[in-house]
Amino acid sequence: MRSRVAAGLSGEVLEIGFGSGLNIPHYPTGLSRVLAVDPAITGRKLAARRVAACPVTIDYIGLDGQALPVQDASVDHALSTWTLCTIPDAGRALAEIRRVLRPGGALHFAEHGLAPDPNVARWQRRLTPVQRRVAGGCHLDRRIDDLVAAAGFKVIRLETYYLSGPRALGYIYEGVATRA
Ligand SMILES: C[S@@+](CC[C@H](N)C(=O)[O-])C[C@H]1O[C@@H](n2cnc3c(N)ncnc32)[C@H](O)[C@@H]1O
Repeated sequence: MRSRVAAGLSGEVLEIGFGSGLNIPHYPTGLSRVLAVDPAITGRKLAARRVAACPVTIDYIGLDGQALPVQDASVDHALSTWTLCTIPDAGRALAEIRRVLRPGGALHFAEHGLAPDPNVARWQRRLTPVQRRVAGGCHLDRRIDDLVAAAGFKVIRLETYYLSGPRALGYIYEGVATRA
């Protein structure tokens, strides 16, 4: 899934919620630089070996996807995987991503979120307060495609599906969105 989401990235890529760098092995050729944003120092430590082995320069440029220290229209692509669930104001982070993307640039994403099945969605709403406490602020009940569109993106590819395992935790929105 990570390879599919990273396919088509090129040039300077902003990755929000960089975490432990699990996307690094899936970066396609053609990247010139990765701008990594994440507040977690533990993730940075876990990423260190992967970052050192990566042929592309990876620079940590910030701690918060909601306030990017990046000029307007200055990056070619953005990547977000399993991160929009955790950022407190995901809409603000998406607006920031849109601001820094060059015209023609695209956001590639794979995120879990609100399921269409009413029973699953009910459980997701019930469990989210607990999940937020035990899983670093993670929300189970965000409608990712709506959030992306509300931030001024046009979703040009979207696949939604359940992962195997508990359905409340694994409804995936995988896609690509361009600046509308
Ligand atoms: C579930 S992890 C996913 C990590 C990685 N993207 C992956 O796919 O493995 C969520 C990540 O979002 C990061 N995060 C939390 N708040 C953030 C924020 N305000 N801005 C950017 N990243 C944030 C966390 O530190 C964590 O690394």
